[in-house]
Amino acid sequence: MKTTICKNYDEMSLVAAYIMAERVRTKPDCVLGLATGGTPVGMYAALADMHRRSGLDFSRVTSFNLDEYYPIKKSNDQSYDYFMWDNLFSHINIKRENVNILDGEAADPDAECREYEARMAGAGGIDLQVLGIGLNGHIGFNEPENEMHVLTHKTGLTESTIEANARFFASAADVPRHSLTMGMGSIMAAKSILLLISGKNKAEVVKRLFAGRITTSCPATLLHLHPDVTLLLDEDAASLI
Ligand code: F6R
Repeated sequence: MKTTICKNYDEMSLVAAYIMAERVRTKPDCVLGLATGGTPVGMYAALADMHRRSGLDFSRVTSFNLDEYYPIKKSNDQSYDYFMWDNLFSHINIKRENVNILDGEAADPDAECREYEARMAGAGGIDLQVLGIGLNGHIGFNEPENEMHVLTHKTGLTESTIEANARFFASAADVPRHSLTMGMGSIMAAKSILLLISGKNKAEVVKRLFAGRITTSCPATLLHLHPDVTLLLDEDAASLI
């Protein structure tokens, strides 16, 4: 992994936005894989700013989001669909028809996952996939388990993830218990990966990431097998390495 330690969250977000913007400039019809959660919010704000100030053009970009709660209505302000429009898509000129987010309202979630994989393949695969990391090492909603799913699938959330995500809901009881998520194979198929990690509470999982072992009990360690991962950390996240 090509690792850069940034001073703080703001610097990490700016560096990440420059990496994304560079990809969009050099390949205007690129396919971006996007993540939600607290970590990429600053990067999305910086990208929206680059669009506003210097006309960074997303008109030919296609996006695929990593995951979505299940079940959840798009209109729910905690859905990842809502998050993406709120934080990024409404502020740039991406075309609605080029935005792909797993449907948390799908009647047949397995069919939705199969179709999503077909759509990613049809788009030529993901050029640059943004990832955050869970406190337990999850990426997307690929939680620590003995066996991991290769492709996009419906899965259950662990107690740790429900607890971590409860901060966005009225209470932990309101966090949906399932999600639809790209699988480890879908993520590893991206040509490049940009992993963002910020904050003291992530320092332990970063230590695990740097322990020199690959294990499905910390899914992010599998990223060591990918040939093109850029890891941006802030000093707090890097404090134990
Ligand atoms: C979000 C996602 C999750 C988050 C992870 C970190 O689309 O797939 O894996 O990246 O839970 O979340 P934050 O950034 O809120 O700490």
